[in-house]
Amino acid sequence: MSLPAWLLERLQAAGGRVPFSTYMGWVLHDPEHGAYGAGRLRIGPAGDFATAPSLGPDFAALLLPQLAEWLETLAAEPDARLALVEAGPGEGSLAADLAAGLAAGWPALAARTDLLLVEPNPGMAARQRRRLADCPLPCRWA
Ligand SMILES: C[S@@+](CC[C@H](N)C(=O)[O-])C[C@H]1O[C@@H](n2cnc3c(N)ncnc32)[C@H](O)[C@@H]1O
Repeated sequence: MSLPAWLLERLQAAGGRVPFSTYMGWVLHDPEHGAYGAGRLRIGPAGDFATAPSLGPDFAALLLPQLAEWLETLAAEPDARLALVEAGPGEGSLAADLAAGLAAGWPALAARTDLLLVEPNPGMAARQRRRLADCPLPCRWA
């Protein structure tokens, strides 16, 4: 298998050898070429690989009762805003399913809860913004 031209050029410019962490940073996070960085990667049964949240809403449905219990505990503090934080949200499927499930099953909690998505790759964040355009909870990215 041959290396893509951009990667070959970069390796040659770096003297032909780089630490594994540098290599992974390039191929995953480069904003133009990286699998996540460019936002071209597709997660799901018809994509590059599948994850539990990408197979449907069942994974979120399993998590929701426990998350709601924890949010209820935090909600004991009057007027405090609550947050669901997801690191590495991929296509945003889990966040979208959790938000929809919370709004449907625990509307009072949903009204006090924000979604915070921790995503370093602009390309993936753009995909998540599209997926969450109709999200019933306020969404923020960090
Ligand atoms: C394999 S996908 C997982 C997607 C999702 N969690 C799922 O189960 O469908 C990895 C996600 O983590 C993001 N990511 C990669 N490195 C990260 C880091 N250092 N901090 C947070 N997110 C990261 C990627 O951009 C991508 O959105």
